[in-house]
Amino acid sequence: MNLPGFPIARPRRLRTSPALRRFVAETSLNVSQLVLPLFARSGRKLRRPVDAMPGVFQLSPDEILREAAAAHALGVPAVLLFGIPDKKDAKASGAYARNGIVQQTVRLLKKELPSLLVITDVCLCEYMAHGHCGLVHGGKILNDPSLKLLAQTAASHAEAGADIVAPSDMMDGRVAAIRAALDKNHFTDTPIMSYAAKFASAFYGPFREVAESTPQFGDRRSYQMDAANVNEALREVALDIQEGADIVMVKPALAYLDIIHRVKKEFGLPTAAYAVSGEHAMIKAAAAKGWIDERAVTLESLLAMRRAGADILITYAAMDVAKWLK
Ligand code: PBG
Repeated sequence: MNLPGFPIARPRRLRTSPALRRFVAETSLNVSQLVLPLFARSGRKLRRPVDAMPGVFQLSPDEILREAAAAHALGVPAVLLFGIPDKKDAKASGAYARNGIVQQTVRLLKKELPSLLVITDVCLCEYMAHGHCGLVHGGKILNDPSLKLLAQTAASHAEAGADIVAPSDMMDGRVAAIRAALDKNHFTDTPIMSYAAKFASAFYGPFREVAESTPQFGDRRSYQMDAANVNEALREVALDIQEGADIVMVKPALAYLDIIHRVKKEFGLPTAAYAVSGEHAMIKAAAAKGWIDERAVTLESLLAMRRAGADILITYAAMDVAKWLK
């Protein structure tokens, strides 16, 4: 590019009015890009707040329906469902139970709000007594034996009516196993949104309080990625795509914008960014102290994810954002 210099070139010309600034904006935030995570647990009229995450609740299915309907009415196209089972065990029975909490909630949502996209988080940690994302033996998290349970979980979600399944466990080969199970059960048209580059992150702290999924020993570093690695993230994404992922996700979002950028650039697939619980909590806490402007910081952070290349934004602030964008 051969650009003329000052005084002919004056970048400020295009910033002189709100209309001009809008006219030349390179990136935009739109309600159609948002996904609202929701946490289901059994009961009726249950709306249990969570300390570490203001505005986030554990909700009974009837309350999930209310929340999802409100989000949908604001134009939010999709929810991402997590489940907190009544009982946990060593084989995550609640994850793939025909009438498990997620399966029940999906049925209710698809019956009452057929045009709302229902995405289900496919993982075992919330359903395991030890809180890990796979089967455990001798203190180790087993890969291959866990695949069967994950595949069974995804198929049971599809069977309940889930529009998209989203595996978040980070076992090797889970996308292939899930694709095979979906296809075998005639869900060839159910897309997989894989948490492809999911890092072992301290930003998940508050989530584990909501989802009651804190590992009871050790940590998740033997399956989630090391924060130091970019090339490995690209390899993880490439593998998930080979195995059949339709949408790929990077998580967390704000501290990993470089990864979002590289993933979108190299693969060009629909790419999701997950603004995780710790990101949300930090904004909420600073805003509560009056130290930052919650609305401005939230919108700016999400715009940064869009600028990096994210098409889909998973955020606990989806409802507020939808209102702000109106
Ligand atoms: C389950 C799962 C986690 C998150 C999404 N799915 C927690 C974890 O891996 O420990 C984190 C979401 C958030 O922090 O908002 N495997």
